[in-house]
Amino acid sequence: MRELELEIVALDKRGAGIGKSGKKRYRVDYAYPGDKVLATPMGRGRARLVKVLEASEARVTPRCEHFSRCGSCRWQGLSYEAQLRFKGEVIQKLFAQEAQVKPSPKIWYYRNRMDFTIASHAIGMRRYSSFAEVESAEGCLLLSKESDEILRLSQEFFQEKKLEAYDILAKKGFLRYLVVREGKFTGQRLINVVTTEGKFPVEEYAGTLGEFANSVVWAVNDSLADVSFGEIRAHTGEGYLEERLGGITYRIPAFSFFQTNPYQAECLLACVKSWLGGRERLLDLYCGVGTFSLALADLASEVVGIEEDAEAIEAAKLNAVLNDINNASFIAGKAEATLAKVGGRFDAVLVDPPRAGLHPKVIAALNKLSPEVIIYVSCNPYTQAEDIKKLEGYEVEELSPFDMFPHTPHVENIALLSRR
Ligand SMILES: C[S@@+](CC[C@H](N)C(=O)[O-])C[C@H]1O[C@@H](n2cnc3c(N)ncnc32)[C@H](O)[C@@H]1O
Repeated sequence: MRELELEIVALDKRGAGIGKSGKKRYRVDYAYPGDKVLATPMGRGRARLVKVLEASEARVTPRCEHFSRCGSCRWQGLSYEAQLRFKGEVIQKLFAQEAQVKPSPKIWYYRNRMDFTIASHAIGMRRYSSFAEVESAEGCLLLSKESDEILRLSQEFFQEKKLEAYDILAKKGFLRYLVVREGKFTGQRLINVVTTEGKFPVEEYAGTLGEFANSVVWAVNDSLADVSFGEIRAHTGEGYLEERLGGITYRIPAFSFFQTNPYQAECLLACVKSWLGGRERLLDLYCGVGTFSLALADLASEVVGIEEDAEAIEAAKLNAVLNDINNASFIAGKAEATLAKVGGRFDAVLVDPPRAGLHPKVIAALNKLSPEVIIYVSCNPYTQAEDIKKLEGYEVEELSPFDMFPHTPHVENIALLSRR
């Protein structure tokens, strides 16, 4: 196969190195600016790293034995300082403002959730650039030391019970995903097992896991969609997880979203709080289980949260009661459909949409609503920057990027927009 010598001169949007060979450019995963590498063209402007010929000064030895076979943690070969610098450069380029990315309080075992694929030989992550192959997650440094034991006990149990792993190519088999969720500040753990239609011995499995799981949920996804959630069929324990951030306890349904790095999420909440002193009425769009709504409730006369996940909304309502918060209400529905129906004026609106950013109808509704301030929380600064351009009459007053996802190219960015 043809091999090229490439000088890596920059990073692309997805965090891959951009390598130059004459006039041609190639995107090379696991290659970093300052590297000289040998790579094989893969088509569509991509090349696969074969060998590092000259290493960038920013390189470090990755700690994880699965690095580069597993599709996650593509930046583990970069020093943490360099990761923060490169993330800062993304923000600076998009917003034309100096930006210091706040480091994560923890850079190993910082995640509270991992969605492991179950294969016949291993439980782990999809291999880099592969749709079907699975790399074991034994020794993974993202979730917790206990996750190794959970994977080992699970694999043994599945083998003993002769439960077959799902084969995504043949579209046959039973066991699909093992989703492990942890409350880092409560010490709780919830494990979701996602299978195709059949029978899963959930009680017996929970017995095998013993103290490693407070609750085990069994859910069925019989569709062709490769997703790690399904219809809940049975559970042991409570069937939900609890986490505590900044003194507030959140009940989180088995498959609802929650901020993945709770250590950094606390810093994010503190930052937003410092921006919001003494507002009257606050709207929290894409509110999940009420993470921001409830944390900010004591700074507002009233908070209204909107979220499409009906289970998360039920949890948000309950979370308000459990935390003695009585000025927050929640509406289930898509933001783009529900926003126009919410009555009255809002002084402040917080938005925290998925990676795709704001729906055009949400942007139009915000322009009509014209609150004094908008706080835009985003895990995708590219769509965030585009959306902000479309919000009429606002200027970026503050920008605060946070590293929520060490060893990946992702950066969380929050922006305070005020009306001109
Ligand atoms: C990045 S999460 C933020 C959740 C919450 N703010 C938090 O901090 O936990 C985005 C949330 O948007 C919800 N969502 C996705 N599309 C939506 C839509 N069209 N309308 C309302 N909510 C939506 C998801 O279910 C998810 O809970």
